[in-house]
Amino acid sequence: MRLNPILTALSGAAVGFFIGVSFPVQLGPSQLPCYYVFPWRGGEGGGEATAGSSTTTNILGRLWVPFVVSNNSNSTGAAAAVLQQPNATATTATCSPAAANNRNKPPPTGAERLPPKIVVSESDLHMRRLWGDPRQDTPVRKYLLTMTVGFTEKANVNATVHKFSEDFDVMLFHYDGRTTEWDDEFPWSKDAIHVSARKQAKRWYAKRFLHPSVVAPYEYVFLWDEDLATDFFDADEYVRLVRKHGLRISQPGLDVTRGKKTYDVTTRRNDGSEVHRSTVGGPGNCSDVHTRPCSGFVEVMAPVFSREAWACAWHMIQNDLIHGWGLDLNFWRCVDDPEEQMGVVDAQYVAHRAVPTLGRQGNPETGGGGKVRARAWREFADFNARIRNADRAAAAQQQEAAAAAAAGSAAPLATRPPQPPRSK
Ligand SMILES: *[C@@H]1O[C@H](CO)[C@@H](O)[C@H](O)[C@H]1NC(C)=O
Ligand SMILES: *[C@@H]1O[C@H](CO)[C@@H](O)[C@H](O)[C@H]1NC(C)=O
Ligand SMILES: *[C@@H]1O[C@H](CO)[C@@H](O)[C@H](O)[C@H]1NC(C)=O
Ligand SMILES: *[C@@H]1O[C@H](CO)[C@@H](O)[C@H](O)[C@H]1NC(C)=O
Ligand SMILES: *[C@@H]1O[C@H](CO)[C@@H](O)[C@H](O)[C@H]1NC(C)=O
Repeated sequence: MRLNPILTALSGAAVGFFIGVSFPVQLGPSQLPCYYVFPWRGGEGGGEATAGSSTTTNILGRLWVPFVVSNNSNSTGAAAAVLQQPNATATTATCSPAAANNRNKPPPTGAERLPPKIVVSESDLHMRRLWGDPRQDTPVRKYLLTMTVGFTEKANVNATVHKFSEDFDVMLFHYDGRTTEWDDEFPWSKDAIHVSARKQAKRWYAKRFLHPSVVAPYEYVFLWDEDLATDFFDADEYVRLVRKHGLRISQPGLDVTRGKKTYDVTTRRNDGSEVHRSTVGGPGNCSDVHTRPCSGFVEVMAPVFSREAWACAWHMIQNDLIHGWGLDLNFWRCVDDPEEQMGVVDAQYVAHRAVPTLGRQGNPETGGGGKVRARAWREFADFNARIRNADRAAAAQQQEAAAAAAAGSAAPLATRPPQPPRSK
């Protein structure tokens, strides 16, 4: 449907290759715990046509890396290393019962007990009919728009939704408990998915309701706030530009003449450019363009993720840190080349009205919005500490694996090596 047939064939071949190589002898039930259900049907879709070969490599990289002994410094290299391997000794060893206690073994998915052909590891957020032939239901849309909303912002949300075409499935997260009112006023609401949980933050919903296997069919996922002025925005045109420029994490430029601004790099350029990826100088004083947030940076209020980038970002959202502060400074980890694959779309832009809607959701008797902000700051510190520690642990594991490989023994599995943090 959305997939370039060549890519589909290639990723199918990759999966076939994987299964064939991993289970060269027998496929008995005792071997099945090593079967890993890859949550994606394919790559980033036809949109990455210009980077087709690297996308394919990247799929292989993500697929293979967890099973590979590697001392390569990047995932592309790891994938290449596997493909060059004449046999799969390391992989087979990993899946043997002897390796059952390996701490890096992927946990069972639950699908192992079933005959593989009945396993459906993906879903979507598209509503179907209760009657008729399932094959004749309206097809799942190509993209997904999600917004975290309160009913007081209904006019703006309605205006925003109207900027998105029929190619989008729409999902609203309600933090104020008011859901049915939307149906009464807006016809599109009846076709939208509504999730209601009071006083929760955008990242809380995203973690719980946008699991990568559930949003798998959508080539791009929009995670938007409710307070964006979209007068000069068209979603289809936005997707066209993002695809054209190979942006895997992006946002519309922010029109600072009409709205708030936090960073230079996400400010819309009014110079006729379609997209930009970095900034230098200016009030943000980006003297080093290679640091975040001077390039490879997208803010949290209106990010747009490719399917694969979202799968990564979802895993980075901490379950307990619901405000998600600090995530945007780390989105760069979710693409191969942040300075190329992350950017800001100037030609389709919005204004950030910065309505402190969620801030009002603190309990007045316990401090209200002030305490909400205090928690967000605390979460920011916690997140930074966690990611620092995780980087250190991954680096240590990497060294251990390299040492073990050098010693010729079966090494623990390599994880994707951390890239050096470059945020200021
Ligand atoms: C690790 O890297 C070294 C040097 O690049 C190479 O000789 C060695 O084969 C590599 N080991 C593995 C397990 O890839
Ligand atoms: C990643 O690995 C590939 C293949 O080994 C290599 O050509 C490339 O230079 C590496 N890139 C970086 C940034 O290390
Ligand atoms: C291939 O298998 C043979 C025999 O099991 C082993 O000696 C050799 O090291 C393997 N080669 C690689 C690259 O894993
Ligand atoms: C919703 O937005 C559309 C497009 O801007 C507009 O035509 C319509 O009147 C709005 N609906 C309501 C109930 O305000
Ligand atoms: C940028 O930093 C320099 C010093 O490094 C300072 O002199 C200058 O005023 C700053 N520019 C802005 C716009 O803040």
